[in-house]
Amino acid sequence: TKIALITGGYTAESEVSFKSSAFVYTQLDKSLYEVYEIAIMPEQWYYVNDAGIKFEINKQDFSLMMDGHVVKFDIAFIVLHGSPGEDGRLQGYFDMIGLPYTSCDALTSALTMNKGYTKAVLAGISDLYLADSVLLFASDRDSASQQVQDRLSLPFFVKPNAGGSSIGMTKVKAVSDLDEAIAKAYDAAHTGQQVLVEEFIEGREFSRGIFKNSKGELVVLPASEVITTREFFDFEAKYIPGLTDEITPADITDEQNDRSERIIKDVYRKLNCRGMVRVDFFLQSETDKFYFIEINTTPGQTEQSFIPQQVRAHGMSETEFYTEILEGALL
Ligand code: DAL
Ligand code: MG
Repeated sequence: TKIALITGGYTAESEVSFKSSAFVYTQLDKSLYEVYEIAIMPEQWYYVNDAGIKFEINKQDFSLMMDGHVVKFDIAFIVLHGSPGEDGRLQGYFDMIGLPYTSCDALTSALTMNKGYTKAVLAGISDLYLADSVLLFASDRDSASQQVQDRLSLPFFVKPNAGGSSIGMTKVKAVSDLDEAIAKAYDAAHTGQQVLVEEFIEGREFSRGIFKNSKGELVVLPASEVITTREFFDFEAKYIPGLTDEITPADITDEQNDRSERIIKDVYRKLNCRGMVRVDFFLQSETDKFYFIEINTTPGQTEQSFIPQQVRAHGMSETEFYTEILEGALL
């Protein structure tokens, strides 16, 4: 089976994608799969062979012409964070050329890349709470600060509505910092120019993966808790070792474990997910309620990322896990 391991991307998350794909590459079972790492970059879509020679992808059918022979792939393993691998664009393209892929479909990917719209769809899931928020459009830029102050109470999280890895995001504790935070989020919000402002939920932060295995069954991975020395789990806290403790499996009660398992299964079904996804939550201290933060449909796959941590805690090797994901997608 020939695998196109899809990496890179058109956003600042591309550097994370390259780390994820480098790790996945080392873990894929080479006795089952012939793996080609394909970088999807704005200037070019390409493969680099062992000798360092670059070959360009033929966008007509996603094939690779190498030394006179054509490589055609059986499946795309998408490990590209952000656009165009997490927002439905590549998924739509792969659908059109008939190439199977591991992630959620085009609609679910596009929807879940939009945090505000995702919240609207998830409203009503039992035991899942949504922080009060304001979704701002490009035309709201001048009145944004006033709208937020009229509708929400401090502190706020201000973020690009379709971003990732906390890029362009600020925790605002004083109104005097709000304008700058909003401007920063708009500037980072390339797709659709929307900004999401949410009320801060005081409590613990968790992240949890779920996937469909090669038998088509839903498997929930153990939860991870995030304990950071930073103001919040920002880009540095996510990727600079030592700034954050990630505890897998998380120290939660059996009841909290079961409840979050039920919630994540409902989220997966309601959003019509495929493959593996990861959902981030706050657990509000005062009320013991789980609040939805967001869902990631191409979650990080560096060795230290949550999904690999949770897979190991689940008692599986990454190699077994990635085989399950690929075989599940080929069903
Ligand atoms: N967006 C990053 C890669 C994650 O969710 O893991
Ligand atoms: Mg994310």
